[in-house]
Amino acid sequence: MIRIHDSQAALMQAAAEYFAACYQVAVEAHGRFSVALAGGSTPRALYVLLARDGAALGIDWAKVHFFWGDERCVPPDHTDSNYRMAFEALLQPVNVPEANIHRMRGELAPAEAAAAYDHALRVFGGADFHFDLVLLGMGDDGHTASLFPHTAALNVTEGLAVENYVPRMDTWRITLTAPAINRAAHVAFLVTGNAKADVLKAVLEGPANPAELPSQMIRPTQGELVWFLDDAAATALSQHL
Ligand code: 6PG
Repeated sequence: MIRIHDSQAALMQAAAEYFAACYQVAVEAHGRFSVALAGGSTPRALYVLLARDGAALGIDWAKVHFFWGDERCVPPDHTDSNYRMAFEALLQPVNVPEANIHRMRGELAPAEAAAAYDHALRVFGGADFHFDLVLLGMGDDGHTASLFPHTAALNVTEGLAVENYVPRMDTWRITLTAPAINRAAHVAFLVTGNAKADVLKAVLEGPANPAELPSQMIRPTQGELVWFLDDAAATALSQHL
C-alpha cells in the first residue's frame, strides 16, 4: 500500500496514527507491542510527534517494547547513534521503562553485537519471534536499515540480526536481516524529499534488482507493507501523476 501526503507534517501525522493502530492490534492480541525503530533523520519528526501525542492516541508506553532496525557501531551516547536519537526524541520524554528498551549494543565488536542482538530477540519472543511493527527509512541508494547495496548482509537468510561491513562508508553496522523484517506483522517505510524520488521510482516501479536496491527485499511474508511518502518523494511515481 502506498500513501502519499502533501507535506512531511501530514505524513508524520498519518504515520503516528498508523503506529497507534498497530499498537492497539498488538496489545489486544498479546498485551504488548514490539516495534523496531528506524534510524537516520527522517523518523525523528515521528518520534517527537509520538512523544507529544502518544497518550492522546491511546498508547500506554509501558506496554511498548522498543527495538532497532539497525545501529551504527558507536557507543549509545554518540551523535551518530540511532538509539540516542530515539532516546532523546521519544523514549526519555515519555519515560519508557528501561526494561522495555532493547538497543543494539554498538559499542561492542560488530559480530559480538549482532550475535547478542539475535539472542536478545529470541529471548524476548521465542524462536519464531516477529515484530508487531518495523519502521524503515530508505537511503538515496535504495538501502534500508543497514542493508546496503552489494553488501554481505543481503545474503543472510538465517538469523534475525547480523553485522554488515559497508565499503562505501568504510564502516560496520548492525542490522536486522531481510527475513527478520519480512516476518513482521506490519512494515512501514517513511520516505520524504525530492532527493529520493528517482530511487523510489526504481524500487517501486523498476525491474527487480534487490542487490542494487535492497529496499526491494522488503516483502512481508504475511504482514502488511505500507509506504508513507510525501509529494516530493512520490513525484516520479507513475501513479502519482
Ligand atoms: C540509518 C538508517 C538508514 C536510514 C536511511 C535513510 O541508520 O541511517 O537506519 O537505513 O533509514 O539511510 O536515512 P534518512 O532518513 O536520514 O534519509
